Amino acid sequence: MKIGILNETDSVEKRVSIVPESIKLLAKNGHEIFFQSNCGKYAGFPDEEYTNAGAKRIDDDLKKIELLILLNCPQKDIINDLNKGTVVIAQFNSNKNTELIDQLKNNKNTLLAMELVPRIARAQKMDVLSSQASIAGYKAALIAANNLGKYLPMMMTAAGTIPPSKVLVIGAGVAGLQAIATSKRLGANVEAFDVRAAAAEQVESLGAKFLKQESLSDAEDKGGYAREQTKDEKLIQKEFIKSNLTNIDALITTAAIPGKKAPIIITKDMVENMKPGSVIIDLSAESGGNVELTKPGEIINHNNVSIHGPINVPSSMAFHASQLYSRNVMGLLDLIVNESKEIELDLEDEIIKSTCINFSGKASD
Ligand code: NAI
Repeated sequence: MKIGILNETDSVEKRVSIVPESIKLLAKNGHEIFFQSNCGKYAGFPDEEYTNAGAKRIDDDLKKIELLILLNCPQKDIINDLNKGTVVIAQFNSNKNTELIDQLKNNKNTLLAMELVPRIARAQKMDVLSSQASIAGYKAALIAANNLGKYLPMMMTAAGTIPPSKVLVIGAGVAGLQAIATSKRLGANVEAFDVRAAAAEQVESLGAKFLKQESLSDAEDKGGYAREQTKDEKLIQKEFIKSNLTNIDALITTAAIPGKKAPIIITKDMVENMKPGSVIIDLSAESGGNVELTKPGEIINHNNVSIHGPINVPSSMAFHASQLYSRNVMGLLDLIVNESKEIELDLEDEIIKSTCINFSGKASD
């Protein structure tokens, strides 16, 4: 099968969809891989690593490509050049890219959305939400440490002992747990809060303290995700978090509800209650922010508290983010490439059913 790897079109995107270690495996399995020059440059994978691994430079002709693998939804000019029937694997973010997806559908492209891989045991190796969220959580702890005018660990110095900084993580999913683990490794005193009761055990297994508000009931839905809180629950949570914010040095927020705007958890008055010099890293900035004052992509200062709203955090650690995304895609290819080295989609398979957002028959049709 002829596989294409292209530069990502977003100018701030440093990641690449397939890295040379995966190219080697694809070439060994008899596929022909075509890459666009510099596709891996900003992630730390120069062109010569692609050619050494067995890939060829792509010319302008995308028509020959049977499987196109990208990180993000392709833009108009690329779609115009694709053949009818070409299979495209990417993170399509359907609600943001409706026009592009319609264009792909009109072009009869089969689309497999990596972000829709279900969170079931069999699909763990394909789970891009987890691989990228874990990087974001790790990076959030480092951004906090880097912007705090304090040590994170306890320091015993000749001039006396410095107590450890206190970090609070709100939202203990994949990103939050990694932020907790990283802050702990850096020696901070870490606390965490989540509306799912199951998160308590995971937080405690990392050596952090879980903040429990007894009058809040478990907000986990049947799928294992958080449900939206009721008005009353939000009020109780607000008072509870507010009372726990006053002695915090760094706050990392990661709270999300699938398919919805991120919940506002930290209001302006709560920020005004925080210690001067403290920092907030709002990892939900891209989906609306957990902090009322967050501005996506900006750092603002309110009352001597700095509020960071970083966007596309995984791209800031592009080498490993690309390597993990590439391995996630390879996991999906294991499932969908048959012995004749062609894509064969079993639309009854739970993973394919939720990932395939458009099916247009065999790539060679
Ligand atoms: P997410 O990105 O959707 O949300 C992040 C966290 O925010 C979640 O822990 C959620 O409970 C929490 N949250 C939502 N509203 C909140 C609020 N108002 N206050 C405080 N916290 C709030 O979640 P993520 O990281 O994608 O994981 C969600 C679930 O999926 C977890 O249960 C996780 O264990 C599970 N999972 C399962 C996997 C599997 O292979 N079986 C793989 C990855 C995740």
